[in-house]
Amino acid sequence: MTRVIAIDGPAASGKSSASRGVASALGFLFVSSGHFYRALAWGVVRDSVSEEALPQWIGNRRLDIVETTGPETAQRGVQLMLDGSDATPHLSDPEVAAKVSLLAVFPEVRDLINGHLRALAASHDLVMEGRDIGSVVFPETPYKFYLDASPEERARRRAGEGAVDSVAERDRIDSSRATAPLTIPKGATVIDTTHLNLSEVIHAVLEHLRKLGNFTTIAK
Ligand code: DC
Repeated sequence: MTRVIAIDGPAASGKSSASRGVASALGFLFVSSGHFYRALAWGVVRDSVSEEALPQWIGNRRLDIVETTGPETAQRGVQLMLDGSDATPHLSDPEVAAKVSLLAVFPEVRDLINGHLRALAASHDLVMEGRDIGSVVFPETPYKFYLDASPEERARRRAGEGAVDSVAERDRIDSSRATAPLTIPKGATVIDTTHLNLSEVIHAVLEHLRKLGNFTTIAK
């Protein structure tokens, strides 16, 4: 049985860095489900796909997942190839950030991505971050976290990363869509990261997992 640690939360809540850190400490594979949505949004921008053409376009896409190791061998992640091209350099493009939440409302898009995410969990222990991982993709996992931070702090963090997208607008679309909206999953441990630094957040998650048992951190 593989284990899935689900970490959900709004944009810039710190879930991506925390998830990487937790995955690295446990030797688990780190997966950002947002990267899957961004990879497809890059394709939509590249191919100028209209809303009407989207279901058919989605049906014709090839998404390959390549496992990677980071600068530290404990860092394991995935690289996404869309139709044979590496999506990685495009995931933070402003056009992609502007499109991604709009694309994520389509059930066809969510079904395609969820199939890939579940296939990864069949063969790997994972730390997966996103918006609906604990609520929809892996509702049965006992390891669920919801990270949050004040809107002001999240906007400040995004600006600090040099990102120009509107966090508030993405939150609005992500929380109000009909299919798999951003929500606190049932049974999730909520962590407010507003006044915590990264190592404190990672520590809080690992402490909680340790209490649940069945987890050993690896030396780095
Ligand atoms: O985590 P991120 O900022 O890279 O996510 C980009 C967008 O992808 C997010 O605004 C909404 C969508 N998304 C989603 O709908 N469901 C997920 N599980 C992850 C991301």
